[in-house]
Amino acid sequence: MYYPDTVVEEVRAANDIVDVISQYVKLTKKGSNYFGLCPFHSEKTGSFSVSREKQMYYCFGCGAGGNVITFLMEYENAAFPEALKMLADRAGIRLPEREATKEEKAAADLRTALLEINKEAARYFYYQLKGSRGGHAMEYLKKRQLSDETIKKFGLGYACISGDDLYRYLKSKGYSDSLLAQSGLVRIDEKGGHDKFWNRVMFPIMDVNSRVIGFGGRVMGEGTPKYLNSPETRIFDKSRNLYGLNVARSSRKPYLLICEGYMDVISMHQAGFTNAVASLGTAFTLQHGVLIKRYVNQVILTYDSDEAGIKAALRAIPILRDAGISVKVLNMRPYKDPDEFIKAEGAESFQKRIDEAENSFLFEIGVLRKQYDFQDPEQKTAFQNETARKLLEFREELERNNYIEAVASRYGMGYEQLKRLVASQAGQYRPGQAERNREPAARKKKGEKDDGNRRAQRLLLTWLISEPALFPKVSPYVREEDFTDPLYQRVAAMVFEQLREGRVNPGGILNHFINMEEEYRSVAEIFNTTLQDVSTKEEREKAVSDIVRRVKLNSLEQAGRQDGDLNALQQLLKQQAQLRTLHISLD
Ligand code: CTP
Ligand code: MN
Repeated sequence: MYYPDTVVEEVRAANDIVDVISQYVKLTKKGSNYFGLCPFHSEKTGSFSVSREKQMYYCFGCGAGGNVITFLMEYENAAFPEALKMLADRAGIRLPEREATKEEKAAADLRTALLEINKEAARYFYYQLKGSRGGHAMEYLKKRQLSDETIKKFGLGYACISGDDLYRYLKSKGYSDSLLAQSGLVRIDEKGGHDKFWNRVMFPIMDVNSRVIGFGGRVMGEGTPKYLNSPETRIFDKSRNLYGLNVARSSRKPYLLICEGYMDVISMHQAGFTNAVASLGTAFTLQHGVLIKRYVNQVILTYDSDEAGIKAALRAIPILRDAGISVKVLNMRPYKDPDEFIKAEGAESFQKRIDEAENSFLFEIGVLRKQYDFQDPEQKTAFQNETARKLLEFREELERNNYIEAVASRYGMGYEQLKRLVASQAGQYRPGQAERNREPAARKKKGEKDDGNRRAQRLLLTWLISEPALFPKVSPYVREEDFTDPLYQRVAAMVFEQLREGRVNPGGILNHFINMEEEYRSVAEIFNTTLQDVSTKEEREKAVSDIVRRVKLNSLEQAGRQDGDLNALQQLLKQQAQLRTLHISLD
């Protein structure tokens, strides 16, 4: 633990979990818990629960769970110290200074240096563009109708033809060869340093906080490769950054426009569409989706109108949906990309296309339609069956019917007829097939069989923290050593200690597991096992007795496997016999 336990606990206790999560997720009170749509997987019914009593969250759909600190770590993609800092600030607590480890210091220093180098390089390229050698680069950008204001806003630049200009400049600033090589801007060999980019117009790539993390460089005119990009480095992760997001995040529009490249983003921004971003030639990833979801719930795809663009859209749509984002697709035809469209028809016309953008499901069906020849009854039927199967993706009836209606009217099928076809497909449909795409499978611990014994141990712990009054009834029979799973045993020891002291605090217990990979998930699961629905006293007594018996018998059985001596065995058999008639009375 980086900080003393007492500090971590102070910060955690000062931030009520319901208040904090409400800032990110819309929660509705149901009984003693709050429920909402899980931010960690895509769903339409709220399986995500937050408990004020336990100071924990838990998703019954995907198994994500933890306390207020782990929530911020997961939601904000923050490391533990960052999450703790955010919460400390929120509660007005001053964290003590802590000494970073040597490795942490070295990693942080490297990142800082790489950011500095990229910033220096961006500045250098910009001055080259503006200077005497930048004439034809400037001419190129002007030919592409970029204004001085746009050039400045995006920090565009020019890498000159010499081949080691930037290298020599950065050396003069005192950076070592090894550091420069790690920046990806320079290649070092026995002859010295060589610039990666030369004779290209330069597009600095910035993260959401407007720090330069890499570059794209375009040849002026024809030539290959058309664009050259910085390699991934310690500060540049292509799957987690979107070009233009540093500006688009504050555009105040409820949706983002997603396009393919640098020039499209810049053209759109120049035309007033300051909510445009690009994934820069790399495939769209779930991390991109999660990043976007922090800012908007809706996107409009403005990919190129060619086959590659359509394929890219078909790949991005399910990823975005999985991130919980609603998707539309803009019709670019007859132009190739947003840059060309805007140059040819202007901003007003582009806005009209935005307003008319097509629902992504109907777009997918439209692409499917092109693969079938409707003159041939067999192919037409195949299309209808495929469409009906896809309609099953909508598991809510009202929504599904709305889509059935839209598809039926668009492709000349009767509404009732298509609805019957969908229903008959549902008969042949094996759950888990189509659903798999929409809901990630519950996270299961690696290779562990979740047998009934482990479940009984979890149930007992959940029950005890929900109803501390049960503890005196149970404690004569079960001790922490009876929890056979090592993790459960650690947790049980903490729970029992708290119960003995009369202060139950599951959220606090989770603190101890935050730095242990994802063990806090398992601990969250322990505290959120669904209790049987028991109402009468008799039912409750039977349920408690059953669970205690199961936990204890399992523990005895494990112990029996270890000691071989006869005495111990007899003792064991006696205890087992007693247990069979165990009855815990709840009077
Ligand atoms: N791209 C790349 N490397 C290439 C070609 C393309 O990284 N050799 C990426 C760039 O991010 C580029 C995007 O893919 O912006 C789209 O490529 P393309 O459609 O070919 O370029 P345009 O955006 O149309 O660029 P321009 O208008 O400058 O021709
Ligand atoms: Mn283009």
